[in-house]
Amino acid sequence: MRDAIAIAALHKRYPTVHALKGIDLTVRQGEFFGLLGPNGAGKSTLINIVAGLTRFREGSVRVLGCDVIRDYRRARRHLGVVPQEVVFDPFFTVREVLRIQSGYFGLGHNDAWIDELLQSLRLSDKADANMRTLSGGMKRRVMIAQALVHKPEVVVLDEPTAGVDVEQRKSLWEFVRRLHAQGHTIVLTTHYLEEAEALCDRIAIIDRGEVVALDTTRALMARGIGRTLKLALTTERPLEVVPPALVAKLRRLEGNRIELQLEKDSDSIIAVLDALRGEGAVVKDIEMEEADLEDVFVELTRGRTR
Ligand SMILES: Nc1ncnc2c1ncn2[C@@H]1O[C@H](COP(=O)(O)OP(=O)(O)OP(=O)(O)O)[C@@H](O)[C@H]1O
Ligand SMILES: [Mg+2]
Repeated sequence: MRDAIAIAALHKRYPTVHALKGIDLTVRQGEFFGLLGPNGAGKSTLINIVAGLTRFREGSVRVLGCDVIRDYRRARRHLGVVPQEVVFDPFFTVREVLRIQSGYFGLGHNDAWIDELLQSLRLSDKADANMRTLSGGMKRRVMIAQALVHKPEVVVLDEPTAGVDVEQRKSLWEFVRRLHAQGHTIVLTTHYLEEAEALCDRIAIIDRGEVVALDTTRALMARGIGRTLKLALTTERPLEVVPPALVAKLRRLEGNRIELQLEKDSDSIIAVLDALRGEGAVVKDIEMEEADLEDVFVELTRGRTR
């Protein structure tokens, strides 16, 4: 089976920034793939290169086997991209925008599909409204419809839910999930880690132009970061009662409160409490926090000499 997107040894240099430093990344057909990373990591640069919107000199990028430079037209046909920046022509109505976009793909009679898209994206009542009269969230949804007029197999969304309210975000999730269930490959960048957790099968974390993690969502979340044990002690000098074996696990120390990082399987809370009690510590309050994707993300992107 061909890969949906295959990126090899990709570099992108802007005049003053080496934005992508040798990216190797494969998205399989039918996958729901997440691209995460802090501001300026290179996510949009990567997506714009896949979309054929940004030039590059080193490396290769294919969409369903079609090289995005040598075979640009065919690659473009397989692909629907929703860019991060909202761009629109203020002189057209929503329906006109979608008809024009259909025209680029030689689709003259596309209204049945356009109506279906408008309905799924809750834009039916805005079909004849001028683009400039739409709210930001509505414009973003028009851009999603625009990316889908030609029913592309691979759909790439660059922060589709940025600036979208909670309710609309949920309905957008539903919409994208449905696309995925219908067999589309989905690639999504987001700053909402819960969004990636909820939707994606696999996640790549990018930091300063490099892939720093690439794994299934489940495996990423299970990555030895374990759990955090938060304790309130009766003493204001907790270091005096934390035995040496536990000092290595200390993550925070503030007044009478300490936070210990426990390994996923090997550390037992009982053993920790026993060790503290052995030193005469009295625990007033206990709280336990399971690691989530956010912990992994912070660990991976901050842990690297920032
Ligand atoms: N057109 C451009 N010209 C010069 N530098 C650019 C250009 N576009 C992006 N960059 C730089 O490339 C790096 C990566 O930017 P990019 O927009 O890809 O990041 P991102 O991961 O999408 O960030 P965000 O989460 O903020 O959207 C940044 O240092 C940015 O300043
Ligand atoms: Mg971006």
